[in-house]
Amino acid sequence: MQPPLLQIEDLKTYFYTSNGVVKAVDGISYSVHEGETVAIVGESGCGKSVSALSVMRLVPSPPGKTVNGKVIYQGNDILKASDSEMRKIRGKQIAMVFQDPMTSLNPVLTIKYQLVEPMKLHLNLTEAQCVDRAVELLDLVGISDGRKRLDDYPHQFSGGMRQRVMIAMALSCDPKLIIADEPTTNLDVTIQAQILEVMEKVIEETKTAMVIITHNLGVVARYADTVNIMYAGKIVESGTCEEIFKNVRHPYTEGLLQSVPRLDARAERLQPIPGLPPDLRNLPPGCRFADRCKYVHAKCTEAMPELETVSDSHVSACWIKDTIGVKS
Ligand SMILES: Nc1ncnc2c1ncn2[C@@H]1O[C@H](COP(=O)(O)OP(=O)(O)OP(=O)(O)O)[C@@H](O)[C@H]1O
Ligand SMILES: [Mg+2]
Repeated sequence: MQPPLLQIEDLKTYFYTSNGVVKAVDGISYSVHEGETVAIVGESGCGKSVSALSVMRLVPSPPGKTVNGKVIYQGNDILKASDSEMRKIRGKQIAMVFQDPMTSLNPVLTIKYQLVEPMKLHLNLTEAQCVDRAVELLDLVGISDGRKRLDDYPHQFSGGMRQRVMIAMALSCDPKLIIADEPTTNLDVTIQAQILEVMEKVIEETKTAMVIITHNLGVVARYADTVNIMYAGKIVESGTCEEIFKNVRHPYTEGLLQSVPRLDARAERLQPIPGLPPDLRNLPPGCRFADRCKYVHAKCTEAMPELETVSDSHVSACWIKDTIGVKS
């Protein structure tokens, strides 16, 4: 197998606040191969966005700081890259679709400026060719009449349209990797499906790799090759999509799967995971999921389980891994 396009090793990003150190990302490792779609799944506040921002080196600092780890992109650790090297990587090599399109689009610049400038920087095209490409991209993401809309400002678009503009921007310079942070949460289901189809098509045609951050296990099942389940700053289970859905090993993953409605089990009550994730400023010494876990026993609260191999492509961090299994 070829070396991965992106390899993240023991990445830790903390926020140093007046109320303590928030361990938002606390030692995660995963890799993404060319053309692969990797999903990152987990509850709100578990560090998904911060892990993505850390890769792009866009964590607000202070208070945030990546304190450990490597982010190896095509063989080089980009945590060590200079600012000018980083500018060449962002957009052209790795593009990000941000979770919140209103704060990541500049409100005082037209959509045209925001779409065309990166293309002028990274692609060998004239201004007119960039504008033509911008119109094509808007059309691709379902914004009709693109040539007219180019002169509009972000506030003149709806939330869903802004999200689509962000996706057009991410695709604009043919990046090798797209990190999409909840790319379709503001969209209605029809547009959501259309956008995901567009992204899938582009990815297939251009062999672009993708890291997709989502709460939506339906999206995971449909699009991901590999799934990383994140909980309280750590990856607790990782495997192929099939392994995660058919041979779940971690009680947290099991809880996530059981809290999704299923058409073939409508009589069964949904089982939300009780309780809340721990405070990232004050983490327990044992398993971070222990106080919500229905299988908990003494060892779980004493020491933190490490990721252990289930199969070549499947790992899980749980002391009681052999006793769980989802009814299928
Ligand atoms: N600027 C900041 N200062 C302090 N803490 C922060 C900052 N940004 C994020 N955090 C904390 O880092 C943790 C992880 O946040 P993150 O945004 O990565 O969560 P997430 O998994 O993306 O959640 P969601 O699904 O809601 O988007 C949270 O506890 C959050 O409060
Ligand atoms: Mg987020």
